[in-house]
Amino acid sequence: MQDQPILVIGATGKTGARIVRKLIEKGENVRAGSRHAPIPFDWDDPETWAPALSGAGAVYVSYFPDLAFPGASDKIEALTALARSAGVERLVLLSGRGEPHAQLCEGIVVRSGIDYTLVRASWFAQNFSEGYLVEPALNGEITLPAGDVREPIIDVDDIADVAVAALTEDGHKGELYEVTGPELLSFADAAAELSRHMGREVAYRPISLDDFHADMTGIAGDFVADVLTEICRITLDGRNEYVTDGVERALGRPATDFAAFCRKAAASGFWKRAA
Ligand SMILES: NC(=O)c1ccc[n+]([C@@H]2O[C@H](COP(=O)([O-])OP(=O)(O)OC[C@H]3O[C@@H](n4cnc5c(N)ncnc54)[C@H](OP(=O)(O)O)[C@@H]3O)[C@@H](O)[C@H]2O)c1
Repeated sequence: MQDQPILVIGATGKTGARIVRKLIEKGENVRAGSRHAPIPFDWDDPETWAPALSGAGAVYVSYFPDLAFPGASDKIEALTALARSAGVERLVLLSGRGEPHAQLCEGIVVRSGIDYTLVRASWFAQNFSEGYLVEPALNGEITLPAGDVREPIIDVDDIADVAVAALTEDGHKGELYEVTGPELLSFADAAAELSRHMGREVAYRPISLDDFHADMTGIAGDFVADVLTEICRITLDGRNEYVTDGVERALGRPATDFAAFCRKAAASGFWKRAA
């Protein structure tokens, strides 16, 4: 246990909430980084960063909405500089696979002068249970511009375990953990597995990038649609179609498979809604 607080940025999000819980269970001193925390942290308000970093010994950095958004690398640069001057001794960055902008941000952390661990993650299983695909899954159809590409979908609990280890244990300094699930699944495979556990048929319908862009423009506007479409274009083109041993290397145990994630999500009641 460390005396200095561990700041968890993104403390109410998919990885952050788990990391906060797991750190508290370990008896660590945790400071939530959230716009609604007692010491608020807001990526859009740099005035909030110094108070949140003050006295922290280690920081988990989950950027929102995504490291590929314009301006993200400037904010990571400014945050890491501030963290260094505040005396932070350890940084753990959540990054994404196959994203040049995310890799740019990894480089900033590597050169920050602070001990670091990079956690470069594949597509989150929890996108289907806590993220933007919950409603589509509950409504029976997932549409993505993913064709028949296969993705090693990861259980976010594994990411949280890796991050907690990196934040609290020795032996992870300077590591790049590329973390994936243990198997490659097409989104049709994932939909079939979801159907088995959600108690309803879930279909996958591949759509074109143009149609995805049009759908996203309707939901979130042109700017967000542009960025999300670009992220899909570069991450779902087959470049990430491989499994890695990052979870095993960091934790000494295999990554959780998608069926196990589905069983857990079903038992947690995430998908309870009248059919
Ligand atoms: N989803 C994936 O498949 C995937 C894969 C690889 C990497 N990643 C990376 O994971 C990271 C998190 O992605 P996610 O979509 O899963 O989100 P998430 O961790 O679920 O984060 C959502 C949280 O972000 C916080 N937030 C929103 N705006 C904020 C702001 N202006 N300042 C501070 N906090 C803010 C909100 O917390 P408060 O309301 O409490 O402030 C919210 O709870 C991203 O960097 C993404 O690139 C995601």
